[in-house]
Amino acid sequence: MSGGDGRKTARNRIKPSTTTTTTTDDHRELRNRKGLRKERGKDQLRILDVNFALLGFIILTSLVALLFVFRSVQFTDADHPLPRVITPFPAPKIMDLEIFQGDHKESLYWGTYRPHVYFGVRARAPESLVAGLMWLGIKDGRYFMRHVCQDADDLQTYGWNKHNGRDYGHQVIIDHGMTLTTSFLKSKGNGSGYGGDWAVQVGVQYEKLIEGMPDAAHLFFYVADEGQNTLRLGRSVSDIDEKSLLAFGSRADVGDWEIHLKSTDDFEVHHIGLKTPHIHNLSDLVQGILGLQVRNFGHLELPDTSDDSPNIFVYQITARTPFKADIAFVTGTDIDNDKVEERVNSLTGTSLTSQLHKKENEFDDKFKKIFNPSDKLDLESVEVGKAAIGNLLGGIGYFYGQSKILFPQPSKHRSDGDSILYWPAELYTAVPSRPFFPRGFLWDEGFHQLLIWRWDTHISMDIIGHWLDLMNIDGWIPREQILGAEALSKVPEEFVVQRPSNGNPPTLFLVLQDLVCGMKRNQFSATENKEMSAFFERSFGRLEAWFQWFNTTQSGKYTSSYYWHGRKESQTIFELNPKTLSSGLDDYPRASHPTDEERHLDLRCWMLLAADCMHSISEQLRNKKESWKAYKETAELLADFDLLNKMHFDEDYGAYFDYGNHTEKVRLRRQLVEKNGNQPPSLELVREVLEQPVLRLVPHVGYVSLFPFISKIIPSKSWILEKQLDIISNTSTLWTNYGLRSLSKTSSMYMKRNTEHDPPYWRGPIWMNMNYLILSSLHHYSKEEGPYRERAETIYNELRGNLIRNVMKNYKQTGYLWEQYDQKKGNGKGAHPFTGWTSLVVLIMAESYSEC
Ligand SMILES: *[C@@H]1O[C@H](CO)[C@@H](O)[C@H](O)[C@H]1NC(C)=O
Ligand SMILES: *[C@@H]1O[C@H](CO)[C@@H](O)[C@H](O)[C@H]1NC(C)=O
Ligand SMILES: *[C@@H]1O[C@H](CO)[C@@H](O)[C@H](O)[C@H]1NC(C)=O
Ligand SMILES: *[C@@H]1O[C@H](CO)[C@@H](O)[C@H](O)[C@H]1NC(C)=O
Ligand SMILES: *[C@@H]1O[C@H](CO)[C@@H](O)[C@H](O)[C@H]1NC(C)=O
Repeated sequence: MSGGDGRKTARNRIKPSTTTTTTTDDHRELRNRKGLRKERGKDQLRILDVNFALLGFIILTSLVALLFVFRSVQFTDADHPLPRVITPFPAPKIMDLEIFQGDHKESLYWGTYRPHVYFGVRARAPESLVAGLMWLGIKDGRYFMRHVCQDADDLQTYGWNKHNGRDYGHQVIIDHGMTLTTSFLKSKGNGSGYGGDWAVQVGVQYEKLIEGMPDAAHLFFYVADEGQNTLRLGRSVSDIDEKSLLAFGSRADVGDWEIHLKSTDDFEVHHIGLKTPHIHNLSDLVQGILGLQVRNFGHLELPDTSDDSPNIFVYQITARTPFKADIAFVTGTDIDNDKVEERVNSLTGTSLTSQLHKKENEFDDKFKKIFNPSDKLDLESVEVGKAAIGNLLGGIGYFYGQSKILFPQPSKHRSDGDSILYWPAELYTAVPSRPFFPRGFLWDEGFHQLLIWRWDTHISMDIIGHWLDLMNIDGWIPREQILGAEALSKVPEEFVVQRPSNGNPPTLFLVLQDLVCGMKRNQFSATENKEMSAFFERSFGRLEAWFQWFNTTQSGKYTSSYYWHGRKESQTIFELNPKTLSSGLDDYPRASHPTDEERHLDLRCWMLLAADCMHSISEQLRNKKESWKAYKETAELLADFDLLNKMHFDEDYGAYFDYGNHTEKVRLRRQLVEKNGNQPPSLELVREVLEQPVLRLVPHVGYVSLFPFISKIIPSKSWILEKQLDIISNTSTLWTNYGLRSLSKTSSMYMKRNTEHDPPYWRGPIWMNMNYLILSSLHHYSKEEGPYRERAETIYNELRGNLIRNVMKNYKQTGYLWEQYDQKKGNGKGAHPFTGWTSLVVLIMAESYSEC
């Protein structure tokens, strides 16, 4: 099993697409009712057969999952206490705080919290009513079902161009000549049930009529109850005129509810009612049903039938384009029935349209107020900035489930130990990338929140609170959160299990530091201040435990030294340089031979941030805790310039490095490798070490080298600062016209593969999160008196310009923000859309940095 975590290249992390298509010669005719033209006979439907190998894989994985459940039952039987690793941190939950109850909680109840589908709504509840949209896309004359965001769909663009994280969003999706818009609105009407009502306006349009393309579009809107409550079909759904009740039901949380469809365009509706707990692969089911319909009856339409007591209804809405449909969801319909029609009217038609316009203007105003993009930026860049934060906010998800944790007790079956389930938990979190990483990542989250707290401190505190509540009694937080069937369906089995010995950069301290500084500088309103105080009072114990977890389990052999534990020596013979997944920088080169003598510069600087932040928080608490002094001392120790230089500075190079047991003389060679048992030996790439490693500084210049610069501990008058500016601005090392490389061109590991299957990841490409931190320091030094102030300012301006220009150029060319950017050509690489930390380009545009 691999590290079990670490965000490896998208390519390695995505389950194969389930969409396969075959041709059928079945022609279909749309009934000519309501003036819909007959579709041409040559519009063929390629359906969608079942991939049997995949089905086998799914069944197998389900069995394996069941096995895990049984194991965990054994582990937790009443005679034995819970194993430590799955024992929650013994303190009141942050999310139980008063500030997260009442109006706050209700105002965030419904949302577009299903980031992995193109459009999906759910509530922040474990067993919610969920809604979503699918449609038939057409590519090369074939139909494809669209539902779950996936690269294979090859859409020209999609994402929330605007979204306020609360009650408004506008998304544009371009699918091979077909443009869909989804506009979301939430409102608490007079008489609505808990959480209020919501509506979505879907617009469909073909760019131009392509020869052979039908002019009708097929949307599939569904509503499903995860709690398996029975849904009821609205009367005369199939005979709709302008508007209709699609479905209704009743739930404990919101009371009776109804869902209505309204449109002034001609359309036709067919439906199917299903009873199944599997909502995560609903599109497979619907594809299968449509395929059957076409084969049996020649109709591309749902059969207008239903299972008994269905918990899902899917509505096929077929209409000639362009057309618009409004779908309104109203709750509490049992209380005050007179008001229902009024509310439905207000959430559809011209009233909906005008409310959406109003919300759009509010979004634009807020964006301007908060990010105040400087006048130098053109209008287009501002629009991309809005799309970046829009999709970050619109991509916020809610998940519920149990992580799988490696149980560190070797059994006779597996030397590694077995996996065990964490307690069932909920997570409200932003996600790095809706198609590739639609779940929580601890290391990314701190960067997301740098943007989100500036937009809405309440959402930010709510997200951070959820993360800290996932802490176990040891102060450990699982770093990749794969909760629930929907999240699991996106992750290959071997990456699911989390190791309780592995950490991840505590980036949340970046945000907490900003918040606590803001409190000191009176940046927030009195109410916000009060709420943040309550938040810090409640979370302090957890933050202490978190800090202590790092300060003890990740400490090095010498005082004030730290290293990422968990690098695997067993693997070293196959890896050019053993990976350091827990650092978040995966394959960034470290000492060639992992030992406990290692000192990792980045972790040392994260610890400085954490200690410093803990000290600042202590000072804000009503009753200062005893420990404040220890944080102050630890922060001072880690900021000690001489000590830092002694442990990590290379005088000759003028650069900071890791320290460890290292040789530069390694290479991968194809060799015959003996296998266990009776498997024949095979040819594999094996690492050769051509020189005895020795304890030394590890001479790779790159992001890690710049951590002391990022931490701003280099005095502004020091010649060492000049050296850092040299390294940053030198085109032979880190500088490109598109941003700073992760690793210097002069490094022996520059753009080297780590294994046969591991292309370079943090060995050259440009990453926005690190560029943001470096830029932030350049900005700092451009304001500090000293001999290098002007140089810092020049470099700052150029780097900022390069980053913005390149992200904009790529967006214009490809329709997306990307996970990383190529250091040679500047083109986007890896996962996309990637509106996680790449969205930091908005803060770069706004010149908004930490002011601590
Ligand atoms: C809500 O409806 C009730 C009864 O229909 C009415 O008395 C009340 O004034 C309404 N409130 C608002 C804010 O419209
Ligand atoms: C959906 O997934 C479940 C298990 O997760 C599986 O049993 C079922 O067959 C799948 N349905 C389809 C249509 O693929
Ligand atoms: C961190 O660990 C070091 C070494 O054990 C210790 O001296 C220091 O006090 C610790 N810091 C805090 C804040 O507990
Ligand atoms: C460095 O690694 C080599 C090869 O594994 C080993 O022989 C040597 O003892 C290590 N040195 C230290 C100081 O750990
Ligand atoms: C840039 O870096 C290269 C490689 O380290 C070095 O040889 C060269 O002198 C540097 N150039 C400047 C202007 O510092």
